[in-house]
Amino acid sequence: MTASSKISSIKGFKDLLPDETARRRRLTDAACRVLETYGYGCIDLPLLEQSALFTMSVGVTTDIVEKEMYAFEDRDGTVIALRPEATASVVRAYIQAGLSRSSPVSRFYYVGPMFRRERPQKGRLRQFHQIGAEFLGREDAAADAETICLVDDICRAAKLKGYRIRLNSLGDGECRPAYREALKAYAAARVDELCADCRTRIERNPLRLLDCKQPGCNAAMSDAPMMVDHLSEACKEHHERVLSLLDEMGVETEPDPRMVRGLDYYCRTAFEIVAEGLGAQDSVGGGGRYDGLVESLGGPSTAGVGFAFGIERMELASSLGGGALARAEKVTVVPLDPRAEAPALVLARSMRAVGLDVEVGPSAQKLKAQMKRADKAGARWVVIVGDDELSSRLATVRDMTKKKDYPSCLPLDAGTDAVEAKLRELGVTFGGS
Ligand code: HAM
Repeated sequence: MTASSKISSIKGFKDLLPDETARRRRLTDAACRVLETYGYGCIDLPLLEQSALFTMSVGVTTDIVEKEMYAFEDRDGTVIALRPEATASVVRAYIQAGLSRSSPVSRFYYVGPMFRRERPQKGRLRQFHQIGAEFLGREDAAADAETICLVDDICRAAKLKGYRIRLNSLGDGECRPAYREALKAYAAARVDELCADCRTRIERNPLRLLDCKQPGCNAAMSDAPMMVDHLSEACKEHHERVLSLLDEMGVETEPDPRMVRGLDYYCRTAFEIVAEGLGAQDSVGGGGRYDGLVESLGGPSTAGVGFAFGIERMELASSLGGGALARAEKVTVVPLDPRAEAPALVLARSMRAVGLDVEVGPSAQKLKAQMKRADKAGARWVVIVGDDELSSRLATVRDMTKKKDYPSCLPLDAGTDAVEAKLRELGVTFGGS
């Protein structure tokens, strides 16, 4: 490498510039607010875990673990992995913190990066972000219905265009083995029509035969047996109860008997959220029930249901904010003398406390230069503190859009409430949604 060669980011790993982070924050804030109204608390988890956590939960034969996981040997020989998802980590943390005893029914949500070495394209990255939620300790159908209702509310809060929630039941340890055999037998009879991947799936992961995108496989599997027709009595009853509760709650879902998920831990209820604006990667989120997971990771038998949205895909499908952010208006405070610095900083602090974006200029610069800077920074308002203002203890406000001055009007010493009241009178917008 020469001294002048440029280093760019790794393929599939993206920078987010300030405008993009602002929009993202708005979207995640909207979703987090909904989650908190449902009683979910925020959990923050490590990005690196022992690789075995994911092989034991997501499944050794899944694409996520087999082909996409960033797993490597640490310096001490431990095999660790960048998390490809967070459900397994939440369950690990729940067991590790002893919550299965102290707080068996727990609701967690998380926001953060996940890593999968997929082929990057629109809506598909190698480092992407999820907002997800896990509801542990409840096995009744009402927990599934509440979770799907929460998903619906997040879609609304995030203003996802044309979203739909697709629903299926994947059965459980009692009825799925017989269904897998039926599916295997069906596929084995059509092996010549299947792609190379699907041929290996027959033995390794037959459920995935149902969602192969290859037209040949699609046609060959079009009359395949469906899980919903092979459910045990208990699974069937559960599924019907979920559907009837959702119906009573007015939450619209679409049955999708071909939907399987790319992770092995699901049982019974499984769902995916699709939306407009995403192209080929139309799944903006997904989730379902995973009653065996806590036990398989060494905890006591505990039910669980949850979901995760891909934040980048939410951004593509969301009409929230768009490019134009309803951010707080920008203010530049202009001190014109060293004696004006302290009052300018105090005033800026009061304005920030009421939600404005405030920048304070350098007192060594002349008014003209400071106004130019403010204009360039996109300030909607400029607050000037010069000699006159110091004597009257009232700052001058300039409306940069209307090019209008309000001489000596903003109190320097009266506190935040008085500053806010005056700014509202002048028509300043305080941001929010
Ligand atoms: P998942 O379906 O693998 O589920 O991922 C959830 C969402 O993450 C997807 O619907 C998609 O929006 C987003 N996503 C996945 N891969 C990528 C990628 N390479 N680039 C961009 N976005 C992506 C899970 O991860 C489960 N842990 C969800 C869950 C929680 N189930 C129960 N609890």
